[in-house]
Amino acid sequence: MSTDILLKIHLFAVAFWFGILGAELVIERTRTRSAAHSQAVATQHYWIDLVFETPAFMTALITGLLLIQPDQTSLVYWAKVVCGLTAVAGNVACTLAIIKRKSASDASNRSEVIRHSLFVDRLSAIAAPAGLMALLLAAFCI
Ligand code: HEM
Repeated sequence: MSTDILLKIHLFAVAFWFGILGAELVIERTRTRSAAHSQAVATQHYWIDLVFETPAFMTALITGLLLIQPDQTSLVYWAKVVCGLTAVAGNVACTLAIIKRKSASDASNRSEVIRHSLFVDRLSAIAAPAGLMALLLAAFCI
């Protein structure tokens, strides 16, 4: 596959992924309204992650890995790759927490639901800036 097509797929996956993150942010903001709402959010976020987000960030990861030119000497280039990888790693950990939260929610284990939710919040505070930094470096510095 040509680099041009790989780059297009990479950018499409990244844009799709960012759109999903925005939607997740909106639904997560309402999770503390009631126990029923929290359960609905846990289930919706779980399905969004499995059906849309995981394929999106896996596509960004695989195309990103295939695009890497090992002979690159630019520090900015490698900083962009590290930021992208950090964003993907954070998302993998978030997805695992979302799966565990759904199980806790199905078992009506409220304290575990809260624990996993807070873990997702903390991870997002690392993964989202890393993703934004990857975007800024790629858009303005590479
Ligand atoms: C949130 C995550 C990511 C964002 C926002 C992002 C964004 C971008 C953008 C906008 C470009 C186009 C750069 C240009 O042509 O000027 C690009 C290219 C690229 N990305 Fe990503 N990316 C992400 C994840 C990744 C990951 C995980 C990897 C590696 C595993 C990666 C590796 C690359 C490579 C090697 C290029 C080609 C750079 C070049 O040769 O000019 N990216 N990325």
